[in-house]
Amino acid sequence: MTLEKLIKNKKAKVAIIGMGYVGLPHAIEIAKAGFFVFGIDISKQRVASLNKGKSYIDDVSAQDLKEIIKAKKFKAFSDFKSLKTSDIAIICVPTPLDKNKIPDLSYIKNSAEKIKKHFHKNELIILESTTYPGTTEEVLLPMFEENGFKVGKDFYLAFAPEHIDPGRKMPLADISKVVGGVTKECTQLTKLFYQQFLKYVHPVSSPRAAEMTKILENTYRLVNISMINELALLCGKMGIDIWEVIEAAKTKPYGFQAFYPSAKVGGHCIPLDPFYLSWKAKEYNFWTRFIELAGEINEQMPHFTITKVMTFLNRHKKPINGSKILVWGVTYKKDIADPRESAAYEIIPDLIKKGAKIDYFDPYVKEFNLNHEFQKKPKLVLKSIKYNQAVLKNYDLVLILTDHSGFNYEEIAKKAKLVVDTRNAIKSRKYKNVYW
Ligand SMILES: NC(=O)c1ccc[n+]([C@@H]2O[C@H](COP(=O)([O-])OP(=O)(O)OC[C@H]3O[C@@H](n4cnc5c(N)ncnc54)[C@H](O)[C@@H]3O)[C@@H](O)[C@H]2O)c1
Repeated sequence: MTLEKLIKNKKAKVAIIGMGYVGLPHAIEIAKAGFFVFGIDISKQRVASLNKGKSYIDDVSAQDLKEIIKAKKFKAFSDFKSLKTSDIAIICVPTPLDKNKIPDLSYIKNSAEKIKKHFHKNELIILESTTYPGTTEEVLLPMFEENGFKVGKDFYLAFAPEHIDPGRKMPLADISKVVGGVTKECTQLTKLFYQQFLKYVHPVSSPRAAEMTKILENTYRLVNISMINELALLCGKMGIDIWEVIEAAKTKPYGFQAFYPSAKVGGHCIPLDPFYLSWKAKEYNFWTRFIELAGEINEQMPHFTITKVMTFLNRHKKPINGSKILVWGVTYKKDIADPRESAAYEIIPDLIKKGAKIDYFDPYVKEFNLNHEFQKKPKLVLKSIKYNQAVLKNYDLVLILTDHSGFNYEEIAKKAKLVVDTRNAIKSRKYKNVYW
């Protein structure tokens, strides 16, 4: 049977490599559409948990997972043997930067090596991990063509970036998908596949166009958030409330989209992906100045927040050395459990070095490991305190880094001695003990 037919009658077997924030929701949706899904992950712990029907991703319900297991549409594996029988292989592995901000494609290459080992005719390979324009054709294509197979005829290869926004609670089926195949046949098959479980699929002319689309989206956010952070710094000096200004600008019915200040743009995507492009651009003797500038401002934001904390404590005759600070929220944005690249990784160790005693509270992160893979020193693991309003009196200052929902921030303003609020969680401006 042709791959087209296998897709149309949902008989194609799908292997997803990387069962994280992107891979797992896809596994559920694809299995719900009727395909059999092999969920592959190198983490044995994750694989065991998936096969027991336990989800570790907020946006994926254990109920959904249990249903696809019961329907015999999903099984997780920590080895790659299932690639032998799969018709479609989707790569959803991390794409970090190394410590010198150089793209680290080792996860993608490793996955591709595994696919290659079990490679067979008529297979469709889709890369979903965010990466620089050129990766699919310059890195992956030569690997699969090595054994004489012809792309678009013997096998199919495409890039299809992911639009998932953890915490947004939007069904995956409603999220658009851009696809760019190496040949017309690759694009058509990839489009056909995603159309089986997504409402809107947008084909583009090449994998490079699709790769650039994803980086454009994330660069747009990094540059705009960094711009508003720069204006927040200036407004601080000028005695203007940036939050009031943004609300006022939002009344314009067109031409303005609001972005909000914070102690840093975090997460696995927005602060990293644009640097995949700036690295690639140098090959064309081109410097992406907006990205570099945005990155520079972003890296400075945690230090600005620390200065704010110290200034506010000083103003209230409390030196940072010996002060007790409660850090509120360690995830990079509200209502999710993902702390990757969050400001807390820099702010907490720095405050500790300055002599502050730090506790943190985060309803989503019970243990905050500062020995994170992207962290250096100090080595430190903190545990979230159990929060009730009475504990606030134990702290000289509460530093709100993440404004998780479900808390009465006005009450916190009333009960805490001092608050530095980097998220405008406290809306009323009547409190003299709050610094926005
Ligand atoms: N998280 C998001 O919101 C989001 C949104 C859009 C795009 N992306 C992109 O999608 C990609 C994946 O991101 P994520 O957030 O899902 O990552 P993640 O860290 O949540 O998940 C990646 C998974 O891959 C596994 N893994 C690592 N190497 C592997 C290998 N060689 N073989 C098999 N499994 C392996 C890890 O154990 C982990 O479970 C990245 O390129 C990211 O930039 C992420």
